[in-house]
Amino acid sequence: MDHRPAGYGTTARMLHWLVAALILAMIPVGLLMVQDGLDRGLGDALYLFHKNVGSLLIVIIALRLVWRLTHPPAPLPATMPDWQRRVAGLSHLALYGLMVVMPLSGYIRVRAGGFPIEGLDALGLPTLVPRSKPLADAASSLHELAAWALMAVLALHVGAALHHALIRRDGVWARMWPPRAR
Ligand code: HEM
Repeated sequence: MDHRPAGYGTTARMLHWLVAALILAMIPVGLLMVQDGLDRGLGDALYLFHKNVGSLLIVIIALRLVWRLTHPPAPLPATMPDWQRRVAGLSHLALYGLMVVMPLSGYIRVRAGGFPIEGLDALGLPTLVPRSKPLADAASSLHELAAWALMAVLALHVGAALHHALIRRDGVWARMWPPRAR
């Protein structure tokens, strides 16, 4: 009898990989664009990408949260020890929390600092945050701190996924991929 857990649906998988791909692009771009001595044109292009794709991520992550809250995740295999279940639950909670904190703190940092977000401005969307240097500075510090926390939790998440794929081979890795690739 096959004890492997049921897989995720198409929407859950697409949202997972779309958010993963965009966040994995946002992190190196964010780290690079804050470096001193960067070519001006390159710096501007990286900021343009980061601010606008990041703002789009607010919408995609909101959709992902709604989906997650209305569709329970596939259960973990019965063979998984309790402590690993607890770590998995806590790390997923941390990932969702950081997925909310990152784009919102970025948005507040930019808007409170009085800077444009070209895509939102072109759509005529109003600024939702008052202009304030202390608020911009606080949001900037939070954005940087949360970025490092996100990198740490992501490393744990990817490491655990690879552990399931290569060592446990319990179906947890496969269920986040399209059925044909399993
Ligand atoms: C999931 C989404 C996001 C991720 C993963 C992310 C990641 C990062 C990272 C890794 C840095 C470098 C931090 C450092 O070392 O100082 C950074 C900086 C920055 N990010 Fe984001 N970011 C996201 C969303 C946003 C959004 C939506 C905006 C604005 C609309 C934004 C605006 C900025 C700005 C302006 C900086 C430069 C640092 C500062 O001046 O505070 N980010 N981001």
